Amino acid sequence: MSTEQRKVAIFGAGYVGLVTGACLADLGHDVVVRDVLPDRIEALRRGEVPIHEPGLDELLARNAGRLSFTTEVAEAIDGADFVYVAVGTPPTYSGDADLASVWTVIDELPDVDRRIVVVMKSTVPVGTGEKVRHRLDARGMHHVGYASNPEFTAEGTAVRDFMRPDRIVVGAFDERDADAVVALHAGIDAPVVRSDVASAEMIKLAANAALMTRISFINEIANVCEATGADVVKVAEGIGLDRRIGKSFLKAGVGFGGSCFPKDSLALKQLAANSGYHFQLLNAVIEVNELQKRRVVGKLRERLGTLRGTTVALLGLAFKPNTDDTREAPALVLAGRLLAEGADVRIWDPIARSSELHGVDQVDTVGEAVAGADAVVLVTEWPELADADWGALRATMARGVMIDGRNFLDPDALRAAGYEYEGIGRAADPLSGRAEPAPADRR
Ligand code: UGA
Repeated sequence: MSTEQRKVAIFGAGYVGLVTGACLADLGHDVVVRDVLPDRIEALRRGEVPIHEPGLDELLARNAGRLSFTTEVAEAIDGADFVYVAVGTPPTYSGDADLASVWTVIDELPDVDRRIVVVMKSTVPVGTGEKVRHRLDARGMHHVGYASNPEFTAEGTAVRDFMRPDRIVVGAFDERDADAVVALHAGIDAPVVRSDVASAEMIKLAANAALMTRISFINEIANVCEATGADVVKVAEGIGLDRRIGKSFLKAGVGFGGSCFPKDSLALKQLAANSGYHFQLLNAVIEVNELQKRRVVGKLRERLGTLRGTTVALLGLAFKPNTDDTREAPALVLAGRLLAEGADVRIWDPIARSSELHGVDQVDTVGEAVAGADAVVLVTEWPELADADWGALRATMARGVMIDGRNFLDPDALRAAGYEYEGIGRAADPLSGRAEPAPADRR
């Protein structure tokens, strides 16, 4: 199918807006990205990319001729066939999604004398499309179409996920709008799910909830494995090969974080509660995840005794590898708990930094983080950690306790390098420590 070039205005130059804009430009469309932050727009105009997302820089550079950036609504809307809403919907104190930025975009839309389609890319509660439709109708903008086109891109693989998605979901009130949004994606080979608007909104929330449920499920299996002597990595392999279950999202660890799962789980929980339904399973998923982030502290206490006066090195701050995003990162919770226990905390990450880490040393190398430390916790499975010289690092540590919060390293190799190694949901070294003590242990 060849692409008919359309003009797309994207509101919001965050992860979702920039990835959507760059990918639609790559499909041949003319794209204007609009944001309220002048510095961000200036930087984008200079060719600087404000977020770390593999492949995005190249895509923006390659399509520079079809991409422009502005702070002006009128400039973005000028000639546009589509208005994509890709603004943040953070949680409010009540846990509901905060739609203030969405409403600002909708209310700022000038009336136009042609059919344009407002496309909701931001993650919103079910029922939002209906409300937007009423608001537009109340302004007499019946000719402005509306479609829900949720995103399923994950940070770190967002460009690939957009260009080679498992499916494209489009929910619309009017078939013409659904047709237009589907046609905009010509060139992408993927099944298309067309639905009503409410169902498209629910597909997004339910997909994330299903993924989170799998993570909390495998984390609970891991915890039972620890208590019973089974190995969760083998268990995940054994159940994942069942085609009805599948392999993905069965990695046990220190819990999920990020800008989506924690926020979307609360939003769906509140959406259900506001409608009079108590979503028991989702509540359990959230609670299991909160406890999971803290379990590492218990493991350290078992091995080190009191943590007061100990030094703990956290490796990884980003909520997952290949991103500098620290939103709801398990490392932040862990660091906070360790500080509260009286430990000195150092944290290394190859790219992520956080202004929320008060009282924690954020260092540039793994070596700086672990030197003199009593324990090291692998929090984010950065690829460079697989190649680190763990033997040499061990020699610089005061004690060799290693908690591998992602079951990322080879337990036998780590034990051979002198660590008292423990993963998540797998056989751990006896508490006395099987490894030969390093000289520093004999203090
Ligand atoms: C997630 C979804 O995967 C995307 O499909 C969705 O579009 C996106 O949220 C969103 O709603 O915008 P993302 O948060 O970028 O994407 O990252 P994931 O790869 O899903 O990881 C989320 C968290 O789960 C990470 O902290 C990761 O370490 C953890 N995780 C993931 C596990 O602990 N175990 C697993 O097996 C998989």
